Amino acid sequence: MISTCLDVNEKGHLTIGGADTVDLAAAYGTPLYVMDETAIREACRSYKASIDEFYGGKGLPLYASKAFCCKEIYRIMAEEGMGADVVSGGELYTALAAGFPADKIFFHGNNKTEAELKLALEKNVGTIVADNMTELHTLSRLAAEMGRRVRVFLRIKPGIDAHTHNFIRTGQIDSKFGFALETGEAEEAARLAHSLSGLELVGLHCHIGSQIFELDPFCLAAEVMLRFMARLQKEGIQIKELNLGGGFGIRYKEEEHPQPYHAFMEKVAGTVAATCAAEKLETPYIYIEPGRSIVGPAGITLYTVGAVKDIPGVRTYVSIDGGMTDNPRYALYQAGYEVITANKAGKPRNFTVTVAGKCCESGDLIQENTKIQYCEPGDILAVLATGAYNYTMSSNYNRICRPPVVMVKDGEARVIVKGETYEDLCRNDM
Ligand code: LLP
Repeated sequence: MISTCLDVNEKGHLTIGGADTVDLAAAYGTPLYVMDETAIREACRSYKASIDEFYGGKGLPLYASKAFCCKEIYRIMAEEGMGADVVSGGELYTALAAGFPADKIFFHGNNKTEAELKLALEKNVGTIVADNMTELHTLSRLAAEMGRRVRVFLRIKPGIDAHTHNFIRTGQIDSKFGFALETGEAEEAARLAHSLSGLELVGLHCHIGSQIFELDPFCLAAEVMLRFMARLQKEGIQIKELNLGGGFGIRYKEEEHPQPYHAFMEKVAGTVAATCAAEKLETPYIYIEPGRSIVGPAGITLYTVGAVKDIPGVRTYVSIDGGMTDNPRYALYQAGYEVITANKAGKPRNFTVTVAGKCCESGDLIQENTKIQYCEPGDILAVLATGAYNYTMSSNYNRICRPPVVMVKDGEARVIVKGETYEDLCRNDM
């Protein structure tokens, strides 16, 4: 199985975290998001352990909560001693409502509104990652108005694009995020942040992409950022902290083999140490921001099969009771997934199907021409590795209710997000 929390029991049913998925579907209905708490906690611990091992404990993993956001996940992250990356007033509000420590929150975003920045300052959010000059000026003004000093990071575009399986080093990256190095904008921003009253420029941040399998782009990004830090140091601008972002790839398809996280940490830490020595820099305090790799492999989505439609010579559509409203990633990115007939998980996967959702939209597909165990109406399908960017990217298109999220721990399940009702859908209608 692609995730360690998945198995097949003696009944031939798929299990997650020791719970039988067929029983979960019967108890909570479908569609149903299921997450395994042990897998989530293990991922956090492995990131923390490798920071201890390779940076002598001088660092902190921040959970990128856009991957999966609800109160319970912030409680778990707080218990695991993680920091958190939030990107909106809504994520910030949720984190605080769950009692997540404000000082361990990094607030990101390329266009934080003044209301969002005010909320962050009022609630003593630890760090604001500034994206642009306008924001630096706004922050300085708000700091004066509110009698606050603000810990600021600058988001830098290091000129490395790792969005595909092959990374490229470009002179000038076209991105809405952050300050460009090549044009001198990043340097100008550092000077501005250093000089503006109320701001304390403590760190630099970069994020080179998501679902990345190679280690080299991360190393190159670290090197570029440290060289920039050394340049600033010569100007008298001391930067003590470095956030290297997230983006570590996970296994969606059986043929994918991502690097273990500690291999990534070891190699990047080697680059950090070597570059610091060459540039005569003190090793900065290191942050990383994994999202997908913490929750992605820990989640699955369960559906009930409705119609099975064979179009001879064309393809077989298996229609499920969810679709792009709970998982828009195939429609958006042609994302790969493994699909299993959960109640026949012990059988061979020799039925080639296209899994279709129930929206009025031909592109509402979860996977095309994929091999699953034979299935018929009433069977339970499981789509694997849906823990990241599924629930958080869900919608109410066609007025379809969002499914509940159930957390499993050692075979026991509990609802952590209730499913929406039709009344919920009309709650704000006048
Ligand atoms: N830090 C920053 C600044 C980010 O922008 C992101 C992701 C992360 C950390 C976490 O990256 P991760 O470790 O999860 O790869 N909706 C897309 C993914 C968008 C990622 C955006 N930024 C998807 O479904 O694949």
